[in-house]
Amino acid sequence: MVELSLPQNSRVGEGKSWPAATGARLKEFQVYRWNPDDGQNPTVDSYTIDLDECGPMVLDAIIKIKNEIDPTLTFRRSCREGICGSCAMNIDGTNTLACTKGIDEVDGPVKIYPLPHLPVVKDLVPDLTRFYAQHRSIEPWLQTVSPEPQREWAQSKDDREKLDGLYECILCACCSTSCPSYWWNGDRYLGPAVLLQAYRWLIDSRDEATGDRLDNLEDPFRLYRCHTIMNCAKACPKGLNPAKAIAEIKKMMVERRV
Ligand code: SF4
Ligand code: SF4
Ligand code: FES
Repeated sequence: MVELSLPQNSRVGEGKSWPAATGARLKEFQVYRWNPDDGQNPTVDSYTIDLDECGPMVLDAIIKIKNEIDPTLTFRRSCREGICGSCAMNIDGTNTLACTKGIDEVDGPVKIYPLPHLPVVKDLVPDLTRFYAQHRSIEPWLQTVSPEPQREWAQSKDDREKLDGLYECILCACCSTSCPSYWWNGDRYLGPAVLLQAYRWLIDSRDEATGDRLDNLEDPFRLYRCHTIMNCAKACPKGLNPAKAIAEIKKMMVERRV
């Protein structure tokens, strides 16, 4: 019989139940906790707060917990209006932004975990080092060979519209961390967020590095691990469709061969 041993920290134990608030509208939050410094396995802690004393979003509740119950709870957030992408986490089984997820969208206890399939730095903070390195690898900036124009480099209305559905990406990583191909091959497959960004530069009428950009993606893993499972489009809190962008890149690859 094969004996399997789980890697360290993969077992989630029962955590602490913090004293409940009193009030008419009580809601429980079950939150993943892991501290790299105490050598213990992760736990899920339970906090109960009165919604009449809290803002409407899950991020409001997490901030309230940190401010009033447990200051050691660790998470990222900045804009609290769906712009910075830093509060991405797994809430009620779905990757999303804590600041745009309404508490009343969740029946029963609100279960909060870090984005899945990434190493955890602490509690709800995932390690995005590889994700950002992959983003850098597609050289996400305008590249030109033409002499710099003396005036504003204008884009036609039609060309500008080609960036719609792409420029809105806030690099929250909700899509990539919901993609099974990225879970299993995240070291080599770029994943939906980075490929959507790659397409954003490929389709920009002002960019003059299209050939080099396609060469950089022409690889069995970097691009072609997308199997059109579509989890990415379902997960995107900005309503974007990375799978479509990936399909467009594949089309560009075919078109340049003929
Ligand atoms: S469509 Fe492609 S990128 Fe999106 S979840 Fe599926 S495999 Fe991943
Ligand atoms: S495509 Fe959507 S889910 Fe993916 S990183 Fe961009 S905003 Fe986040
Ligand atoms: S705090 Fe900026 S997207 Fe949520």
